[in-house]
Amino acid sequence: MADRRISLALAAPGALPPDGRILLLRPRAEHDLHGLPKERLHLVQGFRPDFDALQAQCFAVSPEPEGDYGAAFVFVPRARAEAEALLAEAAMRTVPGGSIWVDGAKTDGIDGILKAVRARLPVDEPISKAHGKIFRFTAPGPAALADWAGQIYTPAPGFQTVPGVFSAEAVDRGSALLGAALPARMPARVADLGAGWGWLSAQVLAREGVEECHLIEAEYAALACARANITDPRARFHWADARNYRPEARFGAVVMNPPFHTARSADPALGLAFITAAQAMLSLSGTLYMVANRHLPYVAHLKTLFREVDELGDDPGYRLIRAQRPLAASAKRATPPSRAAR
Ligand SMILES: C[S@@+](CC[C@H](N)C(=O)[O-])C[C@H]1O[C@@H](n2cnc3c(N)ncnc32)[C@H](O)[C@@H]1O
Repeated sequence: MADRRISLALAAPGALPPDGRILLLRPRAEHDLHGLPKERLHLVQGFRPDFDALQAQCFAVSPEPEGDYGAAFVFVPRARAEAEALLAEAAMRTVPGGSIWVDGAKTDGIDGILKAVRARLPVDEPISKAHGKIFRFTAPGPAALADWAGQIYTPAPGFQTVPGVFSAEAVDRGSALLGAALPARMPARVADLGAGWGWLSAQVLAREGVEECHLIEAEYAALACARANITDPRARFHWADARNYRPEARFGAVVMNPPFHTARSADPALGLAFITAAQAMLSLSGTLYMVANRHLPYVAHLKTLFREVDELGDDPGYRLIRAQRPLAASAKRATPPSRAAR
């Protein structure tokens, strides 16, 4: 685990400067950070569930870095381009001469990152522990890794994305199928749960009758892409965990291609929680349109929450589901306004 590696790293001579803020890029809720000087830390985490959990532990946490830092820790994500962008950010934000520590699991590609940094800069002897590595290099100034920053993809004409967001380089096939299966006319208020960089919401906004489309997305960077991609004034953007988002008024339709992976592994519970949340957000005459890989165990759960569940189309890989008439018991749940809307 990262915390065991961090303890070893902190024992190294001059591991941290005696003062100055310390940047932590992408720490996760499960990281034990108690060995680090809490009052000097600034955690940057854009994934709302981790952000909320870290804030609840009284850390200073924001979705984006602010200003310069005396040292940095980078917790590498699995997506290589995103990891490189984080290293470029750390190099840009850490005063030259400060330490930049890079931690990651083998399964997240820490060895490849180590090799790539070593090809450019001197790196201290890495510390291996708990199926991962932590290594340090001296902040080289902003220019040294600048070419790892700012990569932009164009997954579809008129849409831009950044490394690390879901399906950054092309429209997801499941989302494309769902987009094509949506009816020509949709209710006035629609929500897109886990809206990503906005492609599915754009399909909703192309339908007749839509007056508001609410994009609810946990990943700050993805939502920032969606804001840039969708300039339609009917779009509303919410940086929120869809599982506990409560709208001010119920929606006439929800569309979604729910996530089924946490940072580490496949987790169908996530999709089940999205279904429960979608049902609670719908009016009693509302409809859920969703797409999911055929092997995922969602239909039984849908049938406990909706009176009518049917399939649109018969794609061999994806199930396109329309669920109508939410059952009243949970649809009557209180829905206080969300505080996460931004
Ligand atoms: C399978 S992707 C679909 C993205 C987008 N709708 C599309 O079609 O390209 C699922 C999305 O859910 C987001 N997500 C994951 N967990 C979430 C949560 N708890 N609340 C809201 N969004 C979440 C992910 O960041 C990702 O953008």
